[in-house]
Amino acid sequence: MMTALMRGRPALARRLAFARARWSAWRQAAWAGENARVDAPACLAPLRVMGLEFPNPLGIAAGFDRWGRLGRQAGALGFGCIEIGTLTPQDLTVWDRAARDGAWDKPIQARGEPDLGDTVLGVNIGMSPASGASQALRDYLECLRAVWRRADYVSVNLCSPQAAVLLRPDFRAGLDELLSALKQEQRALAVVSGRYVPLAVKLRLAPGSSELPEAMARLAALRFDAVVAAIDAGPPATPQRYAMWQTPLWQHQACEQIGRLNALLGGNLPIVAVGGIGSARHVAARRCAGATLVQLHDALVYRGPGVAHAIRREMQRTLRGAG
Ligand SMILES: Cc1cc2nc3c(=O)[nH]c(=O)nc-3n(C[C@H](O)[C@H](O)[C@H](O)COP(=O)(O)O)c2cc1C
Repeated sequence: MMTALMRGRPALARRLAFARARWSAWRQAAWAGENARVDAPACLAPLRVMGLEFPNPLGIAAGFDRWGRLGRQAGALGFGCIEIGTLTPQDLTVWDRAARDGAWDKPIQARGEPDLGDTVLGVNIGMSPASGASQALRDYLECLRAVWRRADYVSVNLCSPQAAVLLRPDFRAGLDELLSALKQEQRALAVVSGRYVPLAVKLRLAPGSSELPEAMARLAALRFDAVVAAIDAGPPATPQRYAMWQTPLWQHQACEQIGRLNALLGGNLPIVAVGGIGSARHVAARRCAGATLVQLHDALVYRGPGVAHAIRREMQRTLRGAG
C-alpha cells in the first residue's frame, strides 16, 4: 500500500510514514519499550564512536525528521541515533521552537521505562537554498553555533544541491578553507562551552561509481570526527529505486564503495554508511565492509517504523539458525 502511495503521492507517503513513526515511538515508550530490552546480537551491540556512546549502530538519516519533532524518541523505535535536519539558517526559528518543545532533550527516565536518554542526537546543518559559495561558511557557522548546545554531534551536509558548488574542482582551496574554519570554530566553541561536540561531514557517493569524492581524503587530515557516506543518487527517491536497492548487485556495489573508502581513510575516521540499508543482511554487510554506524531513510517509509526492531529480530533468527 505504501509503495502504491509512494508512486502516486510521495510527499504524502513520507508524511504518513513520519506520523506513524511518531505514534509508534510514543506507544512503545508508553508500554515500557516492549522490544527495547531484548538482548542485542553482537552486530547491534552498544559501541563508542566519535567519543559518544551509541546504544546500537542503527540510526535514522537526515531528512526523515527534518524539524526534530521525533528527536530522541527514535530510541523507542529501536534506533541508537537520529540525525535531524537539514537545518539551514532560515529554519532556525522553527527548529528552536521544536527544540524548546523537548524532543531534543534527554527525557527523564521513569522506573521500568527504556532509557531513551541514551539515544544519540545528531544535527545535520546546511546552506540556505539561496546561498552561493561565498556565503557558505557564514551559513554553516551560524547553524553550528545555534545547535551546539543541544546536539550530541553535528553533521555538515555537503550533499545538498546548493553545496554542489563547494565540491567543484576549481573550488578545492575554498573548500579546504571552509572545512578548516569549521574545525577552528568547533575548537573555540568547545573551549567556551566546556563541551566537545564531534563534527562529521556528509558526502555523497554516486551509486556504482568507483571514484571517491576528493574531499574524503582531506577529512582525516583536518581531524574531523566522522564521515557520513551517503550512497545516494539524490532526488527523486522513487519506489523503483528502492526496489533496485533490494538486488544483490546494488548491495554488493555499495559494500565495495564502503570498502574502498575504508581503505582510503586507513581506519583513521569512522564511517557512517547511508543508502539502501533496510535489512539485517544489509547492516551486517555494510559493517563488514568497514562502516561503524549505519543510517536508514527510505526503509522507514517502506518497511514502517518497526524496521529497527525487525532488523534486530532478523539478526537473532540468523544467529539461532547458524548456532
Ligand atoms: C525525501 C528525502 C529528503 C531528504 N532530506 C535530506 C536532508 O534534508 N538532508 C540530508 O542530509 N539528507 C537528506 N536525504 C537523504 C537521506 O538522508 C539519505 O542519505 C538517502 O535517502 C539515502 O538513504 P536511504 O537509501 O536509506 O533512503 C533525504 C532523502 C529523501 C528521500
